[in-house]
Amino acid sequence: MEFSTIITSLENNIFTVIINRPDKLNALNQTVLDELNEAMDLVYQDEKIKAVIITGAGEKAFVAGADIAEFASVKDDEGESLSKKGQNIFFKIENCPKPVVAAVNGFALGGGCELAMSCHFRLAGTNAKFGQPEVNLGLIPGYGGTQRLTMLIGKGKSMELMMTGNMIGADEAKTLGLVNYVEASENLIPKTKEILKIILSKSPVAVSKIIGAVNFYFNKKGFDEEAKLFGEVFSSDDKKEGTAAFLEKRKPVF
Ligand code: COA
Repeated sequence: MEFSTIITSLENNIFTVIINRPDKLNALNQTVLDELNEAMDLVYQDEKIKAVIITGAGEKAFVAGADIAEFASVKDDEGESLSKKGQNIFFKIENCPKPVVAAVNGFALGGGCELAMSCHFRLAGTNAKFGQPEVNLGLIPGYGGTQRLTMLIGKGKSMELMMTGNMIGADEAKTLGLVNYVEASENLIPKTKEILKIILSKSPVAVSKIIGAVNFYFNKKGFDEEAKLFGEVFSSDDKKEGTAAFLEKRKPVF
């Protein structure tokens, strides 16, 4: 399958998906999301694929968020559907019956952190940085971040990170339980493959049932609420000021 914004490869039954817009720090525009969706359909269908690694191209970023420039072309009343579209693709990742692991090789911000959190677990390179900086744009996380960050690191720290927009480094992310391992950049993919090799030696039926059982812990209502609230902030003056300030490379004034 030919893609324009992601690179895929299959080796030893492990399918690697590289988000490939390094000049925009691999920001998730609609094409990336559509291609990620198609790639996940392939993962569900292709029996040769037994596990997935998602990572970013280049040395700087995993994914630095949803494409802020693209927000300008989305109508004010389309925020909720934008959020739902992303949520649904990330549900497809989360509910994939085969293990999906994020190898976070740099910035994982906003939608990037949300993408990593939709994977079954995460490894980070020492240069990884995590955060939900939507508040700087007058927005909130809309691809499941309010739910999954809270689930992974607990309510207090999740509230703080989302309200301040602050970034945390790989070691703090590990202490908080957001990532399982921190590796030197060159070891990140080999270590991810080493863990997947162990999982692939186990019963695939049991592994898929573990994924299903753990995911059942989630309450879907929280995601619906997030999308509704994302829709509300999407038409606010703060969002207009926040996104304009980012694109004009200045500080927002709310
Ligand atoms: N959407 C669109 N473009 C983005 C982007 C995003 N989320 N993140 C980075 N880019 C673009 C920048 O606009 C820049 O493009 P340009 O070279 O055409 O001007 C390019 O990627 C490089 O980013 P830059 O900001 O110059 O790199 P930096 O090293 O100075 O800063 C970050 C890195 C990650 C701190 C900064 O890019 C950033 O804050 N990004 C946005 C993070 C965010 O708010 N994400 C949530 C979105 S909902």
